[in-house]
Amino acid sequence: MIITDIQLAADLLQKGELVAIPTETVYGLAANGFDGNAIAKIYEVKNRPQFNPLILHSNSWEKFTSWGLELPKEALKVADKFSPGPLTFVVPKSNKVPDIITAGHTSVAIRIPNHAVTLSLLSKLVFPLAAPSANLSGTVSPTQAIHVEKQLGGLIGAVLEGGECHIGLESTIISFVNPQQPKLLRLGGLSVEEIEDTLGFKLKKDSLLNNENPQAPGMLSRHYAPKTPMALGLPNDLPNHLPIEDLACIRFSRYLPEIPINNQIILSESGDLNEAAQKLFSAIRKADEMNKKLIVAEIFPDEHLGRAINDRLRRASIG
Ligand code: TXA
Ligand code: MG
Repeated sequence: MIITDIQLAADLLQKGELVAIPTETVYGLAANGFDGNAIAKIYEVKNRPQFNPLILHSNSWEKFTSWGLELPKEALKVADKFSPGPLTFVVPKSNKVPDIITAGHTSVAIRIPNHAVTLSLLSKLVFPLAAPSANLSGTVSPTQAIHVEKQLGGLIGAVLEGGECHIGLESTIISFVNPQQPKLLRLGGLSVEEIEDTLGFKLKKDSLLNNENPQAPGMLSRHYAPKTPMALGLPNDLPNHLPIEDLACIRFSRYLPEIPINNQIILSESGDLNEAAQKLFSAIRKADEMNKKLIVAEIFPDEHLGRAINDRLRRASIG
């Protein structure tokens, strides 16, 4: 059921039900972050591995502080500049946070999402919302209420309508567990360049190279996967030559002349990486619905949000 009543969403959450919520990045599948039974439903509905910890969302750092979750002073410059926004901070956990949130880790991920509807919802609540992306584990993240309704509608209390997500990629995750040496755990909707410019130094990044790193299981090697197999590059460079009519193409800004236009999706005619990021997950869904034998996605420029786009495309592809 898609609803627009924020108070109804708050009441359902209060009662321990799951509500999908809009954020600027992707829709989240929310539960009361202090209610172990409600949180357990998230894992069940998503079929999410128990070892994959959740992000807690609220509308102010003061609330997080009141729950014993503090940003270290080294994180404040970045938090002031980019929160609310597509950035998640991993900090030491407090006793108030149930272990099921952190999958047993001693740290917890927290963020203030930048979406008017959800900020209004959060301001009504005296607890944080645990919210992974509102999709079955391993599939493409939802960027519209209807994406959630189609996949999970029958299994959850409601989907709160908030329009199309304007960033379109999940938040960038940085661990401040060691405040002197913040570490990038996931590329996402805020570019690493912007964060590093604000910090004045480079982030540690080695964990990203390790696909099976259990610290950030969202980084598992096959994630965001459509039903149709997907490959990266140009059709002519692929090892197995399929007839062109069997291909769906996801392109940055230019059509490929050799492929029928109806089988191609352009993410940004003006070559804008932010626009491309915003449309990426919808495009993967559309390409999947073309029911071709293979989706071929262009490799994006390795800078700004192009890096996060390439990361998602790699995880959605066959390797
Ligand atoms: O934009 C987003 O972050 C969205 C919206 C709904 O807020 N949420 C989202 O959640 O992408 P999810 O569950 O799909 O991804 C959360 C990621 C996972 O990769 C998880 O491993 C990582 O956060 N994570 C959570 N707690 C962590 C912790 N204590 N240490 C390291 N990674 C953590
Ligand atoms: Mg996810």
